[in-house]
Amino acid sequence: MSSIVIVGAQWGDEGKGKIVDVLTERADWVVRFQGGNNAGHTIVVDGVKTALSLLPSGILRPHVKCLLGAGVVMNPTVLLSEIDRVRAAGAEINPGRLVIDRDAHLVLDYHILVDKARELARGASKIGTTGRGIGPAYEDRSQRSGIRCADLLTPHRMRERVRAHVEEKNKLLKYVLESKAHVDFDQLWTQLEREAEILAPFVGNGSRLIFDALRRGEKVIFEGAQGVLLDQVHGTYPFVTSSSTIAGSATIGVGVGPKMIDSVLGIAKAYCTRVGEGPFPTEMLGELGDEVRQKGREFGTVTGRARRCGWFDVVAMKRAIRTSGIDSVILTKLDVLSGLPTLKLCTGYTRGDELVDDLPPSSEDYEGLEATYLEVPGWSEDISSVRTWDALPKTVHAFVETLTNLLECPVSFISVGPGREATIPVAPPQVVREFLA
Ligand code: GDP
Ligand code: IMO
Ligand code: MG
Repeated sequence: MSSIVIVGAQWGDEGKGKIVDVLTERADWVVRFQGGNNAGHTIVVDGVKTALSLLPSGILRPHVKCLLGAGVVMNPTVLLSEIDRVRAAGAEINPGRLVIDRDAHLVLDYHILVDKARELARGASKIGTTGRGIGPAYEDRSQRSGIRCADLLTPHRMRERVRAHVEEKNKLLKYVLESKAHVDFDQLWTQLEREAEILAPFVGNGSRLIFDALRRGEKVIFEGAQGVLLDQVHGTYPFVTSSSTIAGSATIGVGVGPKMIDSVLGIAKAYCTRVGEGPFPTEMLGELGDEVRQKGREFGTVTGRARRCGWFDVVAMKRAIRTSGIDSVILTKLDVLSGLPTLKLCTGYTRGDELVDDLPPSSEDYEGLEATYLEVPGWSEDISSVRTWDALPKTVHAFVETLTNLLECPVSFISVGPGREATIPVAPPQVVREFLA
């Protein structure tokens, strides 16, 4: 049995897609366990870029089987167009290697309209969601009325439930959210019936498949979406996503027990980014933020929105390490920092005379909060073509070692470019070495 959970340890877009793809060379399964097509995971193979929103990041490795676990919310229209796009790029996708858990919930058009209308109604206090209907789909799941992938197998049984949803959401849009948006049931239903027919062969029992696979000794990667600081409970609430993004969510979102997880890897950029609204104590405003955004190409994979950039936040990352039980960290995008004479690492916050040693609970608590930094020397060399630890400048060694000490967590790999080959082992733990053997 061998299983690794990979989570984003910041606010998303840490490079999870790239790292999952790198670590799947010998994996048997890659499993998404939460989120939906609010995620955008980029993989670059031989210079060719593939963006994935729903398909797990093992899909480009022909020997890997992929599961969309029960904790995922799945938009059938988006999944089908993603399957077409990735097939056109040469990947074989069939029910033998892609399974969608029967208990995963569907994201339908009315969820998207409600998501967007709710954001508009929030005005200045909007969350800055991706507008993909993710929150409203999880709301339906929580209030126990959602439509699930199992329903794709028996469309006649879900027809009246979908109609009831459409009627309810149209009332919500019109009378509560004061929106002109409206869903046409007949149109939605015609499309959904067609999609159900195509997707039905992919629907399966994910929990059983992964339990059996692990028992047989197969290697499974549980791929998180978003980042721990966007966790619905442990993140910077209310500026969070609507699912649980911490590592423990892998067991809930797939339906296997916590003792089946061997290791948790946390992916973090060598700096921080965040998309949408919400507190960001180390945000770089002005020219420096623009420079890092341009160099790091920090524009959303899903929405194209400019990502806010900031210095590495050790305090926030320690929260991620704690809440997810991260065993080792993979640091990405170190190449982007080349040329900055001094780098800053946030080691604490102050509010007036008060020392603050964790992310505060409420957005109001961030008023007057200031980050305290440790400044370390940067490096001027372009490190994007370096392939070994020894060949990196001493200042990069010192940066990684300082972070290891501050985080009290080992760094297992670093990444210096978007491609598979730009990944340098530092100190991979035993489980990961065995996983790659
Ligand atoms: P994810 O959501 O965590 O999978 O990350 P995204 O794919 O949304 O964003 C990460 C971006 O950084 C993508 O464009 C990757 O191709 C790119 N990337 C990943 N690792 C590195 C790296 O080490 N250096 C550089 N320059 N780009 C990277
Ligand atoms: P990946 O998997 C970065 C953010 C949105 C918004 C908040 C809520 O690519 O790292 P939602 O649509 O989920 O209700 O939006 O969460 N967000 C992400 N930010 N990367 C992501 O995914 C994100 N998925 C959601 O920008 O602030
Ligand atoms: Mg992303």
